[in-house]
Amino acid sequence: MRLWLDTANIEEIRQGVRLGVISGVTTNPSLVAKEGDGNLQRVVTEICELVGGPVSAEVVATEVEGILAEARRIARWHQHVVVKIPCTEAGVQAISILAKEGVRINMTLTFSPNQGLLGALAGATYVSPFLGRLDDVGHDGMQVVADLVEIYDKYHLPTQVVAASVRHPLHMVAAAKIGAHIATVPYKVLQQMLQHPLTDVGLARFLKDWQQVAGAAVL
Ligand code: E4P
Repeated sequence: MRLWLDTANIEEIRQGVRLGVISGVTTNPSLVAKEGDGNLQRVVTEICELVGGPVSAEVVATEVEGILAEARRIARWHQHVVVKIPCTEAGVQAISILAKEGVRINMTLTFSPNQGLLGALAGATYVSPFLGRLDDVGHDGMQVVADLVEIYDKYHLPTQVVAASVRHPLHMVAAAKIGAHIATVPYKVLQQMLQHPLTDVGLARFLKDWQQVAGAAVL
């Protein structure tokens, strides 16, 4: 399983990369807007250089021709760019054209196994079920992740499932056990995965105990 960061914040990405566990990044219009920088090309190019792996950048056009033009432009920004396209009728049509041109697509705003199946058949490299947003409205988001992993596996479809809209560490454990190829996580969840109160307590005790003998040895 691979871990991506779901953020457009450069400092968070820098820190994630330092940890050595992050191999990609997903952005979306809301995440980029949150950083207050309207120059998507500059932000995405900088992230691509930092992470050295797939970086998703989303189109905002909603009609086929507009999506095609925007996606082709975004795809030229950097070798690591993956174009994010929402699962709409126009989106799926554009994905099937772009995939034949060799453009790597992450189909976003996916909420059902049927949507995910269509994305894979259209040729998306990645499909992102938004499990947290499904949970928010009383559906079982993780079930959609599980269904897609099973369907792609059954038919040997090369599309990879990105568990997205991850909200807490238990989502991560479930996605990993289910076999999601990738999970994209907010920086806060990455930190929660790392931390455990017993690690802190244990380390404090080790250091205190060691200080006693180390102090005695110096005396
Ligand atoms: C994924 O690529 C999306 O950017 C993201 O996971 C959406 O998450 P949210 O539901 O927390 O906004």
